[in-house]
Amino acid sequence: MAAEAQAEVPAAFWIGGRIPVRNRVLAAPMCGSSKLPYREQARRFGADVVYTEMVKAKPLVKDDAKTLRLLATSPGESPCGAQVCGAEPERMARAAARLEALGFPLVDLNMGCPVRKIVREGAGSALLRDPAQIEAVVRACVAAVDVPVTVKVRSGWAHQGHQDAATIARAAEAGGAALITIHARAREQRHDGPVDTAALRAAKSAVAIPVVANGGVESAEDALWLLRESGCDAVMIGRGAHGRPWLFRDVARALAGREPLPPPSAEERARLMGEHFEGLLELVGAHGVHLFRKHARWYFHSRPEAPEFVERLYRAQTEATVRELIAGWEALARACAG
Ligand SMILES: Cc1cc2nc3c(=O)[nH]c(=O)nc-3n(C[C@H](O)[C@H](O)[C@H](O)COP(=O)(O)O)c2cc1C
Repeated sequence: MAAEAQAEVPAAFWIGGRIPVRNRVLAAPMCGSSKLPYREQARRFGADVVYTEMVKAKPLVKDDAKTLRLLATSPGESPCGAQVCGAEPERMARAAARLEALGFPLVDLNMGCPVRKIVREGAGSALLRDPAQIEAVVRACVAAVDVPVTVKVRSGWAHQGHQDAATIARAAEAGGAALITIHARAREQRHDGPVDTAALRAAKSAVAIPVVANGGVESAEDALWLLRESGCDAVMIGRGAHGRPWLFRDVARALAGREPLPPPSAEERARLMGEHFEGLLELVGAHGVHLFRKHARWYFHSRPEAPEFVERLYRAQTEATVRELIAGWEALARACAG
């Protein structure tokens, strides 16, 4: 299945004058799932930029081995932004410099994580209540690196009104951010509930830098709707692309006004699953068998044969069993389709 031929598409805009955004669709950072094989597939299906899962600034600046493993990357996925989370400008600046030294062409600052432990440290979504600190953190990071610095925030801490998002966006821009992504749900909504398109619109009209709309995109139609309602420059997709990396292609085509392609065949799905699984094994060794389980469930989503296979995959203990199941599923799905 051909992915988008990106080089032929003119840039809709550039991030910091360096990174072209052609298809207007980005892949969201997601702890536990936006690992290297996932990101490589997202890029091949047309995501303009992919992001690592979040790492914390404190262990990063100490070169903590586990943190560095989370940042494994490859030339094939470039441009991949590395996302870091923290509250102190000076430490965040050192973390940004470390990420640049590791070769990342883009540094993204997490200012939306709702997890209590992170918030207690004044990081993640805690920053949404302190625009001056947002500006200070961004400014320090921008001064520390040559690569563009982007920021990922939420529409606010609570449903307090749309001024929040505009104020937050202005603070990020004032600090020198090259782009801001807004998950259009307040911190108190966590990951569910309707997205606040008015907040996106308010933020978009408050700043000159590109604004990326994020939240709830599960189809090409959703992406078209979100851009239309928000006036934003691009969309970012998180959970909607779990087990469906071709969603990036579908969205890219829809935003370019092109006809949709048929969904991938059983063979193609099995090939993508197999590729993802082998990539995880390469990345983390035998632990990949465990890590792959949730992805397998997502790939099988809505297939009639799913429950049986998901159950067997969850029980699988070895690489060989998973490989056999993937190959077997391909044959079964073909038979079902016939
Ligand atoms: C399991 C999970 C892990 C996430 N991890 C991160 C993260 O590390 N950094 C971040 O900025 N956002 C993270 N997010 C938020 C997503 O990037 C995204 O903003 C959110 O899921 C909304 O987009 P969606 O509705 O398209 O999924 C995570 C979300 C989920 C569900």
